[in-house]
Amino acid sequence: MMKAWFYKEHGSVNVLQFGEIEVPSLGPGQVLIKVRAAALNPVDFKLRQHGLRQNIAFPAVPGGDFAGVVVDVGDGVSKFEKGDEVYGDILESSEGNPRLLGTLAEYTAAAEHLLALKPSNLSFEEAASLPLALLTALLAFDTVDFHKGQSVFIVGGAGGVGSLAIQLAKNVFEASRIVSTCSTGKAEFVKSLGPDLVVDYTKQSYEQVDEKFDFVFDTIGESSKSHVVAKEEGKIVDIASFPPHPRAVNVRLMHPHGRNLERLSEYLESGKLKAVIDPKSPYAFSDVVEAFKHLESGRARGKIVISPI
Ligand SMILES: NC(=O)c1ccc[n+]([C@@H]2O[C@H](COP(=O)([O-])OP(=O)(O)OC[C@H]3O[C@@H](n4cnc5c(N)ncnc54)[C@H](OP(=O)(O)O)[C@@H]3O)[C@@H](O)[C@H]2O)c1
Repeated sequence: MMKAWFYKEHGSVNVLQFGEIEVPSLGPGQVLIKVRAAALNPVDFKLRQHGLRQNIAFPAVPGGDFAGVVVDVGDGVSKFEKGDEVYGDILESSEGNPRLLGTLAEYTAAAEHLLALKPSNLSFEEAASLPLALLTALLAFDTVDFHKGQSVFIVGGAGGVGSLAIQLAKNVFEASRIVSTCSTGKAEFVKSLGPDLVVDYTKQSYEQVDEKFDFVFDTIGESSKSHVVAKEEGKIVDIASFPPHPRAVNVRLMHPHGRNLERLSEYLESGKLKAVIDPKSPYAFSDVVEAFKHLESGRARGKIVISPI
């Protein structure tokens, strides 16, 4: 048995319970991981609240992002062995697999293709904070075939996805100009991530932005308004509104893969990409309800991490 957070019905944070459940059994191609740190994403509370149109079997353990240590490997696993320090997002679409055994638990099992070796310069907390948000931001840039010298406008630079998107734009894709939005109190923090300009959305509307961009990456779901800052031939990705503005591509669900984390390893190891952890983190394993409340306030600054587990 292991300690875990779980829920047996959909609802608010009040349905979260802490207790003992069975350690997940290992299937072929899976590894069993001792979770050291986990991170929260909005999808975790959306699944808990209403299941996102998926038929989840209860009890469900929330959480997709984690960093930890491999303690056992299933048949056919070739990439990892016991003792490896790994990280990843294990939240594959649960279509046909409605059992959700996530990472807010002492142990979790995951298919090996979802995992990557943890860069040795990153702490477990830093590594756990990255996968879902970083892979979503990477997918957005890949979706529009973003290349060096293009300009980007990032809506929501203080959030989990936005704070990593700014760094990807600057240090991986070498954007020619990066402008990002946030509220007044977070402007200094967003500036520290390296954009050329920060727009305070409480003081300036999209119509008042006097430049146009090759790419508008809207992490907040406001493409019905933010589309006005895209060039005529510019591209827009909106990851949070359904349906988005007709000009916007909606990255509906990012499908995680370890090889995309590996693609960014050199940037993480060299410090060109840095984990951005919310100042209230890490939350203790016993404080998961408080951590979810903070995430669900919509005001987190970077990523919310739970550690130690
Ligand atoms: N489709 C996918 O595969 C996918 C993947 C990941 C995330 N998502 C979705 O993308 C959204 C963002 O995720 P996240 O993890 O980045 O969320 P998050 O970390 O919870 O975002 C919180 C941040 O949003 C900022 N914010 C709120 N309203 C804003 C506005 N009008 N303009 C600019 N910034 C604003 C807040 O900053 P201020 O306090 O300054 O307002 C806060 O720092 C969520 O809806 C999530 O479900 C989708």
